[in-house]
Amino acid sequence: MQNLLVTGGCGFIGSNFIRYLLKESSFLGDDSFFTGRIINVDKLTYAGNPESLEDIEKEFGNSRYIFEKADICNIKEIERIFDQYDIDSVCHFAAESHVDRSIASPEIFIETNIRGTFNLLECAKKKYDFSLIKGSGKNFFLFHHISTDEVYGTLGKTGLFTEETPYSPNSPYSASKAASDHLVRAWHETYGLPVTISNCSNNYGPFQFPEKLIPLMILNAIEGKELPIYGDGKNIRDWLYVKDHCSAIWLIMQKGIKGRTYNIGGGCELENREVVEKICSIIDKVINPNVRKSLSASSKELMRFVKDRPGHDFRYAIDCTRVKQELGWRPEESFETGLEKTVKWYLNNMKWVERVKSGDYLNWIKSHYTI
Ligand code: NAD
Ligand code: TYD
Repeated sequence: MQNLLVTGGCGFIGSNFIRYLLKESSFLGDDSFFTGRIINVDKLTYAGNPESLEDIEKEFGNSRYIFEKADICNIKEIERIFDQYDIDSVCHFAAESHVDRSIASPEIFIETNIRGTFNLLECAKKKYDFSLIKGSGKNFFLFHHISTDEVYGTLGKTGLFTEETPYSPNSPYSASKAASDHLVRAWHETYGLPVTISNCSNNYGPFQFPEKLIPLMILNAIEGKELPIYGDGKNIRDWLYVKDHCSAIWLIMQKGIKGRTYNIGGGCELENREVVEKICSIIDKVINPNVRKSLSASSKELMRFVKDRPGHDFRYAIDCTRVKQELGWRPEESFETGLEKTVKWYLNNMKWVERVKSGDYLNWIKSHYTI
């Protein structure tokens, strides 16, 4: 993998993955060090922020890291990028990713998540076919597709999602991701495209856009704003620190069996209200007590139970035996250590937060790139 196309690399997981590959992948052992270059293709929607990779741009810009502002729905642009950089592998993160937004405005989810994935598959197939015609068969190595456990639908109080669980998506977001997974699988079965797919549980960590549960609650608690918990707060998610997701993806990309799906999860099931309580306890501990007193005795007083999300999946929980037994993956962070790191990251990066929230970074983008 010398010319790796990463889509959606300015988003939450994509930016963490690029940093992981360029700076930390060696921790897996010498043979797994990424030595190629990354071509990051991102449309820079509200969720994509090139400032999340400012350090990478400085250290690796124009040598091992190249940014291309482009829309995966624009097939001409994607074709050009495949040709210009002689792309030999893809790691596909780009997506509309927020369930609440998909309920309010589903169309862009259909367009980006389904049409965009189709375009990338077509470009990869062209490249793969060309390498076969030339006889080497080695010029296109892998299309790795990033997906979610939400494609499996919802669980009751017991049971786990395995790779054999039938798809049963409930939200427009998860339905669009399910469709994209099926396309990837079909391009493998029909055209022989070398693919791997990973379905991961909820991530948290640095650089997550503050519309998702954990960063939203951290920032509201810091600012003394109400903490809106949907329904009775008893819905359950299985949380994974983003860097642990990145190490699993890289392992699958190197050692995973082509055509296979791998579930990734934290083995860390928590009710939403428990997650919010844990965030509050950390905030109460790490923020200067004088500042805290001016807000309320404890951040927990800010918790509010609000109207439930329509079609709110009750529980997600992952069986990730396959990625552990076949590939030897292990997460490094517990929820406690990962959450504390995350809270501290947001506290130390309020400039990033302010710019993302105010939309100021759009001005930054305008001064750096042609829109
Ligand atoms: P994100 O919303 O933070 O980032 C998405 C990125 O994709 C942004 O940089 C955005 O600008 C870019 N993008 C959107 N539309 C595009 C388009 N048409 N062309 C090019 N770029 C485009 O999302 P995330 O949380 O980092 O999720 C990344 C991937 O991981 C998604 O495929 C998501 O379904 C999957 N996933 C996320 C989680 C999670 O907990 N966040 C869990 C499992 C799987
Ligand atoms: P979210 O971070 O949006 O991820 P997903 O819906 O993909 O799991 O939400 C995580 C859980 O937190 C989910 O059960 C919905 C709930 N939630 C709230 O209770 N309040 C909020 O403000 C948000 C954004 C989410």
